Amino acid sequence: VRETLMAKQGEQIRAMFGRIVDRYDLLNRLLSGGQDVRWRRVLAHRLASEQASVVLDVCSGTGDVALALYDTGSTLACDFCLPMLARARRKLIRAGRPPLVFAGDALRLPVRDRSVDAITVAFGVRNFESLHGGLQELARALRPGGVLLVLELSRPRGVLAPVLTWWMQWGPALLGRLVSGDPDAYWYLPRSVASFPEGDELCRLMARAGLESPRATRLCGGVATLYEAKLAMAG
Ligand SMILES: C[S@@+](CC[C@H](N)C(=O)[O-])C[C@H]1O[C@@H](n2cnc3c(N)ncnc32)[C@H](O)[C@@H]1O
Repeated sequence: VRETLMAKQGEQIRAMFGRIVDRYDLLNRLLSGGQDVRWRRVLAHRLASEQASVVLDVCSGTGDVALALYDTGSTLACDFCLPMLARARRKLIRAGRPPLVFAGDALRLPVRDRSVDAITVAFGVRNFESLHGGLQELARALRPGGVLLVLELSRPRGVLAPVLTWWMQWGPALLGRLVSGDPDAYWYLPRSVASFPEGDELCRLMARAGLESPRATRLCGGVATLYEAKLAMAG
């Protein structure tokens, strides 16, 4: 199971998220000390300055980005794990929002070319079977001038880095075992972060997928990074 998770085979990734759905939100809050909520707010704040009426949240999970984007307008939430989507739908209904959710694989999005004003992906691109293929697919769906915002875990820098790195390495295994009952999922988390491109490297990969002016903003000492890039205006 662990080998196929690290190979990021879509079916294994989907099954893993299906197993942890019940404790997913709680584990996020505990592992990040509540900071994940703030990071999604930063993403929402960044999106608010764009003229985006059709917003697609890919890898939406339990819908926390869609919820954070309330004030920006309606967001379509998409994920390939049905139990996650069902949870997102319930949360959106409970919050009095239209449950605009649909099943879809980020590597083969069921949306027309150049049809979306903005795409958000929080803690999702790290799981893509093909990062380049996934970024190209997101670029395909964006309209010219449309914006891509990616929130992803990264490796901490600065004075607190040793403590934060220690927590990112061992916290998931500890809490994952105690709270989620699925040690493999939380064994996978730190390993997938450690082996994933970040900062300038991920910006270069975004540019290679056809996105313009990518930039990265480190959050919380680099525990997470917000990436943004645009699709070029039609020439
Ligand atoms: C770590 S969760 C992030 C959920 C949410 N965005 C958040 O901020 O909490 C990753 C989600 O991405 C989904 N996912 C991973 N790979 C995917 C793919 N290729 N297509 C669609 N969803 C995918 C998983 O099912 C899971 O719900």
